[in-house]
Amino acid sequence: MPNVAVIGAQWGDEGKGKVVDWLASRADLVVRFQGGHNAGHTLVVGNQTYKLSLLPSGLVRGKMGIIGNGVVIDPEALLAEIERVRGQGIEVTPATLRVAENAPLILPLHAALDRAREAARGERKIGTTGRGIGPAYEDKVARRAIRVADLAEPATLDAKLDELLLHHNTLLRGLGAETFEKPTLMQYLLDLAPRILPFAEPVWERLDEARRAGRRILFEGAQAVMLDIDHGTYPYVTSSNTVAATAASGSGMGPHAIGFVLGIAKAYTTRVGSGPFPTELLDATGQMIGDRGREFGTVTGRRRRCGWFDATMVRQAVTVGGIQGIVLTKLDVLDGLPELKIGVGYRLDGETVSRLPASPAAQAAAEPVFETIEGWSGSSAGARSWADLPAQAVKYVRRIEELVGAPVILLTTGPEREDTIVVRDPFEG
Ligand code: IMP
Repeated sequence: MPNVAVIGAQWGDEGKGKVVDWLASRADLVVRFQGGHNAGHTLVVGNQTYKLSLLPSGLVRGKMGIIGNGVVIDPEALLAEIERVRGQGIEVTPATLRVAENAPLILPLHAALDRAREAARGERKIGTTGRGIGPAYEDKVARRAIRVADLAEPATLDAKLDELLLHHNTLLRGLGAETFEKPTLMQYLLDLAPRILPFAEPVWERLDEARRAGRRILFEGAQAVMLDIDHGTYPYVTSSNTVAATAASGSGMGPHAIGFVLGIAKAYTTRVGSGPFPTELLDATGQMIGDRGREFGTVTGRRRRCGWFDATMVRQAVTVGGIQGIVLTKLDVLDGLPELKIGVGYRLDGETVSRLPASPAAQAAAEPVFETIEGWSGSSAGARSWADLPAQAVKYVRRIEELVGAPVILLTTGPEREDTIVVRDPFEG
């Protein structure tokens, strides 16, 4: 099976961009299957930096990009991103990008509702990206979403707008936010239609053909397992399933088509937004890791919270996410620390448990149990083989493998694409 799915194994921002870029260069098609423009990938190719949010990363490498039905698409954001990367010399046309005709759209009213609800939550806010992701998925499940194919049918848009506005304006009014007018939204959609529809198609057919022809498909996950709507730290999660199984339903393929599942994990842990974070470091070490790792969100610009590697959490992500191999990123950020800690369990009500419980109160109360490991004085930065790594850094990686129950098959040690130790090519299984 020549396909590969890549998902985050922590709370997102694991440094997927660089790895996905490397994998994309070995793939024929790259597919986004969940999330929306809440994701953010930074790709550095030569002297160009590409910031992608909704577009599949492979486009930068000239590979066919597919946006699957599991993605929520903000058409304005999509067109703006297409313009931006075109300005950087990347060709994005219906010959290189296809969008699922059955994908739901994010409209301006979704972002407005997202922000109004976050403001109303006050102290209890989730810390969403404010881009309307949650409300758009709610509309999909409630069967009132406007989907890509609807853009070709003004009568369908007319009827759906009535239902949408009845729902959303009622909520927006209740939250003291501005409401939306039907003629304005109708015009907005009719203006977007001719610019979006040329990209639309039943992508499941193209993917099936590609699979039958033995072409390599890369499924590019967004966010991460601990932000999964079912398996994450609910309610401090995103609104889609981020586990590898979604690569199938979110693109219109069977589960057997997914192939090898890679989980990306940082050599430490970060999180943006609110929610429990048992191994969080609120001291100078956390600050230092954040500064060195340049831990600022691609999408939000917010500073990320930092902490020690939580092996208990990653093992859980490996299990529920279907992860078969780990890509460990940013090992070099830990260079020079005299000692490191790895979370190996949680203390809860006087007992040690080896999984993150589902209850929010228990998640918040979980105290990490740490194992301490000696640091290394040498540098791992730029290492391209195991032999280049300080012996203690190798021990740290080996201990992580043992604890999470999956082999490290790629290791990144610096921002350059070549600063990577490849243990195994995931396309080879
Ligand atoms: P939403 O996806 O905008 O609804 O945000 C829900 C939660 O997911 C918030 O805590 C966000 O910070 C987080 N989140 C969404 N997308 C990303 C991402 O790409 N990286 C990291 N966190 C994310």
